[in-house]
Amino acid sequence: MRLSVIGCGYLGAVHAAAMASLGHDVIGVDVDRDRIAALAGGRAPFFEPGLPELLRDGLASGQLTFSTDVRDAAGAAVHFLAVGTPQRQGASAADLSYVDSAVDALLPVLRPGDVVAGKSTVPVGTAARLADAVERTGASLTWNPEFLREGWAVHDTLTPDRIVVGVGTGDGGAPTPDGLRAAGMLREVYATALGVGTPWIVTDLATAELVKVAANAFLATKISFINAMAEIAEVTGADVTTLADAIGHDDRIGRRFLGAGIGFGGGCLPKDIRAFAARAEELGRGESVGFLRAVDEINLRRRDRAVELVQQALGGAVHGRRVTVLGAAFKPHSDDVRDSPALHVATRLHGLGAVVTVTDPAAIENARRVSPQLTYVHDRDEALRDADAVVLVTEWDQYRRELSPQHLATLTAGRVIVDGRNGLDAAAWRAAGFAYYGMGRP
Ligand code: UDX
Repeated sequence: MRLSVIGCGYLGAVHAAAMASLGHDVIGVDVDRDRIAALAGGRAPFFEPGLPELLRDGLASGQLTFSTDVRDAAGAAVHFLAVGTPQRQGASAADLSYVDSAVDALLPVLRPGDVVAGKSTVPVGTAARLADAVERTGASLTWNPEFLREGWAVHDTLTPDRIVVGVGTGDGGAPTPDGLRAAGMLREVYATALGVGTPWIVTDLATAELVKVAANAFLATKISFINAMAEIAEVTGADVTTLADAIGHDDRIGRRFLGAGIGFGGGCLPKDIRAFAARAEELGRGESVGFLRAVDEINLRRRDRAVELVQQALGGAVHGRRVTVLGAAFKPHSDDVRDSPALHVATRLHGLGAVVTVTDPAAIENARRVSPQLTYVHDRDEALRDADAVVLVTEWDQYRRELSPQHLATLTAGRVIVDGRNGLDAAAWRAAGFAYYGMGRP
């Protein structure tokens, strides 16, 4: 099928390349000239495993093209909207200006029978608001949320664990004939994944929008739940990692997303829970998701806790002390530093007068842009040399698995390790003579 993808950020670029790899003819459109130039030249504008290969193959076969001109999207049967919905400056709500301008730009391109499929994460009610304008062109509006994780984006796009499509519905809540036709076109787009039994859920527009924010709110709540347990563990001498293992054996609970530490960040979970709470307020149901405020607060407190632990480990003050921060990205396998807990901890320590050196295998360039006051060193061992304390804040394998206490001891001045992700074997580090500090661990 001929497809267009409007917006080529983390979501859109991967979606475009993945759809081309399935045999579709895809054009990716973005207003950012540099980004389009990079993509058209086969260069991924951000770190995402597997994306460079997909770009290379798609460009070589001619099935993947890029443009800055939305008019080049004309002729596509399905137009995916994959623009960003960042947090609005000075507010909790989502900034929908990119969605609105993408739809405005697309309207003149649409033909009767085309399908517009929104993938961006939007406040519930956005699709209904946009539907009239789209439908006046004879095209149909659907919402097809995306659940990809950065670092796994190619895998998650090609082998999703479910596909959700919201379509126009009639009075009884059943899809309209036009909605069913639009869903049928998306079935064709996703035929490969559906062929191996991927669950396929057709619903109304509001439910589709809500599925995405509910999933992210649940994940954020799960992380903050275990981090709240870490806070209780800290005043009782309990160990939150053993607690997580033990409750995780209950398959109603599950062990995944019970990793206590400095909490969640990135371009999705933090802004999505805030936007959800703001939207619920507008709907007069603020109290229904009032707990999301606590989820956010617990999450931010854990960053402070990591800073406190470094202070405590260095005898109360960090001023003038050399601290090496392992990680800047919000999680491993990503170069994304948006709302990164790791970078937050590093800048707080710097603000308290510590001599901070930050290293990261992928995120230094992005980190330097947002926190230019910090010192960045690419080489891990160079970054660690002469440190008084080391803080692990992004659990890259290079820090969690491939750095032994014996090796670290040959580099650092001090013997202090603060494990902001509870990724290290505390007993092994203590046995090697380090003062080990975990999050919610004795
Ligand atoms: C998330 C959702 O997982 C994805 O489905 C959605 O489409 C977009 O938002 P992503 O932002 O890529 O994806 O990151 P994710 O892997 O979910 O991690 C989010 C944050 O939570 C990271 O900062 C991570 O370090 C943290 N985290 C994760 C924990 O602190 N503990 C855990 O146990 C798991």
